[in-house]
Amino acid sequence: MAMYNEKVIDHFTNPHNVGELETPDGEGTYGSPVCGDMMKISINVKDDVITDARFKTFGCGSAIASSSVATDMIIGKTVEEALAITNDDVLNELGGLPAIKIHCSVLADYAIKSAIYDYAQKNGKTYKGLEGFDPNADEEDTHHGCDMEHSVDEMVAEVKAGR
Ligand code: FES
Repeated sequence: MAMYNEKVIDHFTNPHNVGELETPDGEGTYGSPVCGDMMKISINVKDDVITDARFKTFGCGSAIASSSVATDMIIGKTVEEALAITNDDVLNELGGLPAIKIHCSVLADYAIKSAIYDYAQKNGKTYKGLEGFDPNADEEDTHHGCDMEHSVDEMVAEVKAGR
């Protein structure tokens, strides 16, 4: 555990914004075909501002910490501001992750963009920050040779335990 800073450990053990919104305006799921880790983000949007966000992460502790921080970061932001948040911003907010875990924060970045993409599609909106974004893009870039094995049930139990 020494390789993780306190903020990462805190967000992993007490993740914020866990779950699913009852009436989401947009939902996005992104997963790695290599390690099977997956993240689902739902958002509510009003007057172009993200008013609420929830996540479910079937993944490692770094993915959980990343989604916790990332959902905190987008709540209260305009859609364009949220789209401008990069993977590096999430990493900075977390105070860094071990190099082998950086891809886990990419899951959060892509899942948020996927949720916004869904919202934009349903509402006939276009955003500059979504230009060139393909929610079904091959996840080659995020392959990371994850050697952790975890079942969905284990992950759910972990997330619940951290509530
Ligand atoms: S997302 Fe963290 S190990 Fe795969």
